[in-house]
Amino acid sequence: MNIETLLNKKIDEKKQGNILDIKTLIRGNKKLYIESYGCQMNFSDSEIVASILCKENFSTTKNINEADLVFVNTCSIRDKAEQTVRKRLQLYNSIKKTTNPKMVVGVLGCMAERLKEKFLEEEKLVDIVVGPDAYRDLPNLIKQVEDGRKAVNVFLSREETYADISPVRLSGNGVTAFVSITRGCDNMCTFCVVPYTRGRERSRDPKSIINECAKLVSEGYKEVTLLGQNVDSYLWYGGGPKKDYNKASENQKNTSVSFANLLEKVAKINKKLRVRFSTSNPQDMTDDVINIMAKHKNICNYIHLPVQSGSSRILKLMNRGYDREEYIILIDKIKKKIPDCSISMDIITGFCSETDSDHNETLSLMKYVKYDYGYMFKYSERPNTAAEKKYKDDISEEKKQIRLVEIINLQQKQSLENNKNRINKTYEVLIEGVSKKSDLHYYGRTTHNCVVVFEKNNYKIGDYVNVKINDCSAGTLKGKII
Ligand code: SAH
Ligand code: F3S
Repeated sequence: MNIETLLNKKIDEKKQGNILDIKTLIRGNKKLYIESYGCQMNFSDSEIVASILCKENFSTTKNINEADLVFVNTCSIRDKAEQTVRKRLQLYNSIKKTTNPKMVVGVLGCMAERLKEKFLEEEKLVDIVVGPDAYRDLPNLIKQVEDGRKAVNVFLSREETYADISPVRLSGNGVTAFVSITRGCDNMCTFCVVPYTRGRERSRDPKSIINECAKLVSEGYKEVTLLGQNVDSYLWYGGGPKKDYNKASENQKNTSVSFANLLEKVAKINKKLRVRFSTSNPQDMTDDVINIMAKHKNICNYIHLPVQSGSSRILKLMNRGYDREEYIILIDKIKKKIPDCSISMDIITGFCSETDSDHNETLSLMKYVKYDYGYMFKYSERPNTAAEKKYKDDISEEKKQIRLVEIINLQQKQSLENNKNRINKTYEVLIEGVSKKSDLHYYGRTTHNCVVVFEKNNYKIGDYVNVKINDCSAGTLKGKII
C-alpha cells in the first residue's frame, strides 16, 4: 500500500472513530502544534523540529485543539520565563482534559535540558523531554511514547549543528528568515544558564550556511539574520568545539573561517539580500567585523551589543571579559567607521552587590551611547550558575524594580529623541507585512532596524521602498513613500 492510500485509510478510520488510542493516532498524517518562548534561536530551532517531523508525516497546525502532538520550546534564562512555560502546561492540561484528550505533550529546549527527567515528575502531563541538541532523535522518542513509555533525551553534543536540515519556515512572512551559525556558548557569564543548557560552542560549516542563504534568496527572501549566542566568536576550522581549535592542524588553521569572513561571504550572495546578525559580544567583536560592515551596504547598520552594566566592578563579577572603558572604545570605533549605525543593548539591573553608584554608572553609560533600543531585565538568580554559587542575590526586589523602571524610562526618552532626529529624513524600507493597527498601512524596517509604518500605495510585501519620515513615537517611525 503506498503512503497516500495508507493515509487516506487512516483518515477514514479516524472519521469513523475507529482510532482510539495515542499509539495509533501518532502515526499517519498527524498534526503538530509548536509554540516557542525565549530567544530567536528557539524560534529557529522550532523550524528545525518542524522539518524533522514533516518527514515523519506530521504537518503543522495553529489550532491546538486539533493537534496530535504539542511541543513547547522553552526558555530558562529567567525564572519568569520558566513560570510562563509552567502556565502554558496548565493550559495544555485543561485542553487535554476537555477538548483534546488524545494529544501528546513534549517539552523542548533549555528548560528541558535544565530539568531533565525531573520534568516528568513535576508535570505529569508531559510525555517527552528533549534538550536542544537531541532533536534528530525525535522520531525515536515519539515511537517510545507510542509504545506507552515516557521519553527523554537531553544529551548535549560537541558536534551537532543541524547543518544539513532545511528548516520549515514557521513564522513565514516570506521576506525575513533566521539562519543559525553557531550553537552553545563558552563565555560563562556568571549570571547565565545558557552554557549549561546549550552546551559547548560549535560553529556550522560555512558552505551549508551559504547554501541555506542562497536558497532563501531563490525563494524570494530579502533578509537573513545570522544567529548565535555569540556570533563574533564564530570559527569554522573543519568542525568540532571552538575550545579545541588549538588542537587543529596547520592546514585547518590556515583555511579557517572567522565571523568577519563568513559575514562577507553571505553579503556577497546577492546585493539585494539584507544581512543582519545577533548577538554580538563586546569581548569578541573584532575590527574586521566592523570593517566588513562598513564595506558592504547590504549588511545592516545595526548592532545588538549587550552591555549588561555600566560599572566595571559589576562587569568583572559578571565575568563579561571587558570593562566600561573597553566597551566605550568599541562604541566609539563603531560610530567612527559606521557613523549611522544604530546600537541596541541588554542590561541587567540589581545584579549581586550592585550599589547606587554602580547603577548610576549604567545610567551614565546609556546617556553616552544613546542606544536606539534596549532589552532590560531584573537580575534573576539561576540554579547552578557561578553567580548562584559565589555571590549573594542581595538586592531587594523593590530596589531591582526601581532601578529597572529608571533605566526603562531613560531608554524610552532616548529612543524617542533618536527617532525624532530621523524626521524629514528618507530611508530605504523593506516591507515586511500589513500594519497590525490598519489594513491600509504596511510596516517594514530600515537598515537600522527601526520599524516604519506607511500607506500601502501599490507596493507589495517584500518590496524595497523609500519612505520619508514625518512623525514618530519611541518605538515606531511613520512616513510616506516617495
Ligand atoms: N548571547 C545571548 C544572550 C542570551 S541571554 C543572545 O544571543 O542573546 C539574553 C539576555 O538575557 C542577556 O544578554 C542578559 O541581559 C539577560 N539575562 C541572562 N541571564 C539573566 C539572568 N540570570 N537574569 C536576568 N537577565 C538575564
Ligand atoms: Fe549567556 Fe554570556 Fe553566553 S550572556 S549566552 S554566557 S555570552
